[in-house]
Amino acid sequence: MAGMNDLAARLRALPSFPEDMPGLAPDAVPEDPAELFLAWLEDAIAAGVRQPHAMTFQTLAEDGSPVGRTLILKDLDERGLHVSTHRTSRKGEQLAADPRAAMTFFWRESGRQVQVGGTVAALDEETSQADWSARPSYEGSPNPDWQVYALRPAWYEFTQSRLDRKHVRIGYRRGADGRWSHDRVTTPAG
Ligand SMILES: Cc1cc2nc3c(=O)[nH]c(=O)nc-3n(C[C@H](O)[C@H](O)[C@H](O)COP(=O)(O)O)c2cc1C
Repeated sequence: MAGMNDLAARLRALPSFPEDMPGLAPDAVPEDPAELFLAWLEDAIAAGVRQPHAMTFQTLAEDGSPVGRTLILKDLDERGLHVSTHRTSRKGEQLAADPRAAMTFFWRESGRQVQVGGTVAALDEETSQADWSARPSYEGSPNPDWQVYALRPAWYEFTQSRLDRKHVRIGYRRGADGRWSHDRVTTPAG
């Protein structure tokens, strides 16, 4: 059924990518994907975009179906990419049952997407309470339900969009020896 007000036509007519997007030279990417991720995050911060640290965080529900929601990236260190939430939230329960998770960042001003997936670990209580007490709404008491999790990446995929839709995608995979390898991703893309 066609939309009463031509939704499909209006969506198609919406402006998409900005004219001046950065490039991504596949031969010049770093060996460590965290380096590229941080460079893109820093670019988004420097550009003054709102919530450059917001991403879609995907978990698996009890029946195996995927579920995503927006979360804020709290930190990135050798343990992985940090997020914080209530341990008794749905996502907390899901992570306790199945620690596999993925994140999707999208910086529309630069046409950049980063996907990262792996396994989540609950970090120590000190880290969690430090995060809790740094929140703007902190009222002076600790919260035993608050938990910082670190996603230890097994893979990353970086997409640099292009106006001609020949988007450049680089996939990184962590090998059994812990070393990263990367390659162009050439499967069909929009
Ligand atoms: C911009 C934005 C940022 C958010 N950041 C967080 C966050 O860092 N931690 C969090 O627990 N929820 C955050 N939320 C709320 C979550 O999206 C979600 O609604 C909530 O955590 C409950 O998710 P769950 O029922 O899947 O556990 C954020 C929501 C938005 C819109």
